[in-house]
Amino acid sequence: MDTIQNALETIHEKREQVQEYRRKQLKKTLLSDEFLNFVEKNTAPFDTMIAYYRCAIMEVETKFKVLDEQFSLTYDANPIESIKSRIKSMDSLVRKIRDRNVPLTVEAIMENITDIAGVRVICSFPEDIYRLAESFVKQDDIKLLATKDYIKNPKPSGYRSLHLIVEVPIFLENEKRPMKVEVQFRTIAMDFWASLDHKLRYKKDLPPEKQKVLTEELCRCAQASAALDGRMQQIRDAISGDDWSECCMDAESIEI
Ligand code: GTP
Ligand code: MG
Repeated sequence: MDTIQNALETIHEKREQVQEYRRKQLKKTLLSDEFLNFVEKNTAPFDTMIAYYRCAIMEVETKFKVLDEQFSLTYDANPIESIKSRIKSMDSLVRKIRDRNVPLTVEAIMENITDIAGVRVICSFPEDIYRLAESFVKQDDIKLLATKDYIKNPKPSGYRSLHLIVEVPIFLENEKRPMKVEVQFRTIAMDFWASLDHKLRYKKDLPPEKQKVLTEELCRCAQASAALDGRMQQIRDAISGDDWSECCMDAESIEI
């Protein structure tokens, strides 16, 4: 009796799983069709929206280039290693709209999706990140909407980065328009780690056991990399005149 009962339960579970899969697939195609339809019907406003985000990226990039120039005069070194910017891909935009149930209007998308424009600022040293971020948000045309400090509070995966969601104005022919931009600040080491983590996340065909081992190893790498960032920061501080002996003592106390 028990065996029959178990078999029936398994069949029921499998049927539920198949139905759930079908529901998800249906939602996916429905929404992407709906989204394509929306883009087709709203080509001009949609293209304009993307163009505005490109302008916002230009504004933000320029602000960081200016800060980099001025910091190099003041501190005799460029704090920014590189800047990488991107407009969110259609694929991931559709996914986010679907996951967050955002209504299909240009206004709702611009209001609710805050990372259509993304600027990543890569620095050598963690301290420069905070110095730059502070100078950036102090500017009187920047409105800070949200901060996520994954450097002070890393994600369980080990991910570290400082994220700011800001509003920056773009100046058009007859109007000034506030645009949302996500700014991510990372050190070179944080960025290196995040790109390897990204590779692992998107590698869906790994056996679960291997995935688990690699995730744990990557988490240990994040700790080692954070410690190294700290030690290099101390060396830089010592070179630029802070107390040398204190630097060596602190460095010894950091285990890798
Ligand atoms: P998204 O929906 O992915 O934008 O996440 P969110 O709105 O919850 O915001 P969050 O600040 O957590 O993440 C924003 C972005 O940070 C992501 O799109 C990634 O670029 C990056 N990120 C966040 N967590 C991780 C992580 O664990 N690993 C890697 N490689 N990148 C991450
Ligand atoms: Mg994102």
